[in-house]
Amino acid sequence: MSLHIDAAPGDIAETVLLPGDPYRAKWAAETFLDSPRLVNEVRGMLGYTGTWNGNPVTIHGSGMGMPSLSIYANELVRDYGARTLVRIGSCGAMQDRIALRDVIIAMTASTLSTPSRGIFRELNFAPAADWPLLRAAAAAAESRATTTHVGGIYSSDVFYDERPDLNEIMTRHGILGVEMEAAELYTVAARHGARALAVLTVSDHLLTGDALSSEARETGFAEMVEIALEAAFA
Ligand code: ADE
Repeated sequence: MSLHIDAAPGDIAETVLLPGDPYRAKWAAETFLDSPRLVNEVRGMLGYTGTWNGNPVTIHGSGMGMPSLSIYANELVRDYGARTLVRIGSCGAMQDRIALRDVIIAMTASTLSTPSRGIFRELNFAPAADWPLLRAAAAAAESRATTTHVGGIYSSDVFYDERPDLNEIMTRHGILGVEMEAAELYTVAARHGARALAVLTVSDHLLTGDALSSEARETGFAEMVEIALEAAFA
C-alpha cells in the first residue's frame, strides 16, 4: 500500500496505462481487459487490473497536470514495481497539418517546469520517451486508418494560458501538441529506470479553435488504447 493507492502488493501489473480521467480508466479496463477488477479508489482515482492477450495490465487514473501525475507515477514505480508506463490522453494540436482525432506519439516533452525542476537546478533536462516503446507504438499506429504524428510535444502547467505567445513559440519550433502530464512521466520513469511513453488523441486545435464532442473523443480514445497496449507488449 502507498499513500494514494491502497492496492494490495501484487495487485498492480508491471505495465500500467495512465489516462488522466479515472472514469476513462474504468471504461478502458472494462472495454479492453479480461477480468478487470478494481484495485484502487482512494480519492476517486480509480485503478483496475486485468489481462490483455493474457498479459497483466493495470489501467489507473493520473489526474490532470504534472503534480497529480507525479504522485501516481512515483508510487506505481517505487511502491508497486511498475516498469512500463504509458500515458493515454488528449492534447491540443499546435500545427496546421494536424487534425482533430489524429494521434500524436510524444518523442519528447518540452516544459517551462516540472515537479522535478528543483532537483535539476540549472540543468535543462530533456524528457524523452523510451525508444523501443516509441518505435512499437509508431508501428502499431501505422497499420491503422488514423493519421499519426511522432515528435515533440509541450507539457504545460496551465490549461487556461495567459501567455499565448508561448504557444506561438512552440508552434514555430515544430511542437506538435500541448497537454499537461507527459514531461513529468518521462522524468520519473528515467529516474527509476522504467519505460514511459505518451500516446495522445487530438481533442482540440489551438490554431483553429475546433474541438471534439465528448462522443467523438471516446472513439478516438479506443484507437489510442489499442496502440498503447500493442506497444507495451510488442
Ligand atoms: N489537453 C487537451 N487539450 C489541451 C490543451 N488545449 N491544453 C492543455 N492540455 C490539453
